Amino acid sequence: MKFNVLTLFPEMFSIMNESIIGRAIENNKIEINAVNIRDFADNKHNRVDDYPYGGGAGMVMMAPPIFRAYNSLNVDKSVPVIYMSPQGKPFTQDMAREYAKYDELVILCGHYEGVDERILEEIVTDEVSIGDYVLTGGELPAMVVIDTISRLVDDVIAKESIEEESFSSNLLEYPQYTRPEEFNGKKVPEVLLSGHHENIKKWREEEAVKRTKLKRPDLLS
Ligand code: ADE
Repeated sequence: MKFNVLTLFPEMFSIMNESIIGRAIENNKIEINAVNIRDFADNKHNRVDDYPYGGGAGMVMMAPPIFRAYNSLNVDKSVPVIYMSPQGKPFTQDMAREYAKYDELVILCGHYEGVDERILEEIVTDEVSIGDYVLTGGELPAMVVIDTISRLVDDVIAKESIEEESFSSNLLEYPQYTRPEEFNGKKVPEVLLSGHHENIKKWREEEAVKRTKLKRPDLLS
């Protein structure tokens, strides 16, 4: 899976070279191609933003540099172009599963007061939000989306982890325990030490439902 990211801050994506995603990059399971929109400016100060027509606070990212940066990728028209924006469709695990079916994605990160509306009309296919709050730019949201999709790519993590995890069956995940058997006077539930696989499975299913009812009843409706 190749993530082409159009951004003013490509260096921010170097933090993805750690941990599970870092290993996936090393093993060529995923690739993050962060392209600097500023490299496609056409003025000597490399300006990529300007004042909004009609006035108002802040600056707007100009359409031509973004358009040229996108064209430099030479991606097929069928490749989704995701614009990270608080106005977008709320990102979900189901959306991540759909995006994981592609070999390649383009993600556009906005900054300042956003991008010229004509870029949305010309290249953007999907506008995606990571939640109802406003960040200073689309880079962190892009990393959230990349991380979520990457772990669904074959051989990035164990298949079993994906099948059992939260949201995979509209339920939160059951509680987990590891050594020591007793911590601050609290013992690991007896059934998990029993070695009885049927009972363990049943207990986990019940706990998943219980915890979903308690923490996220909206998932059950
Ligand atoms: N850019 C700024 N805020 C955002 C959000 N909540 N989701 C996606 N992109 C954003």
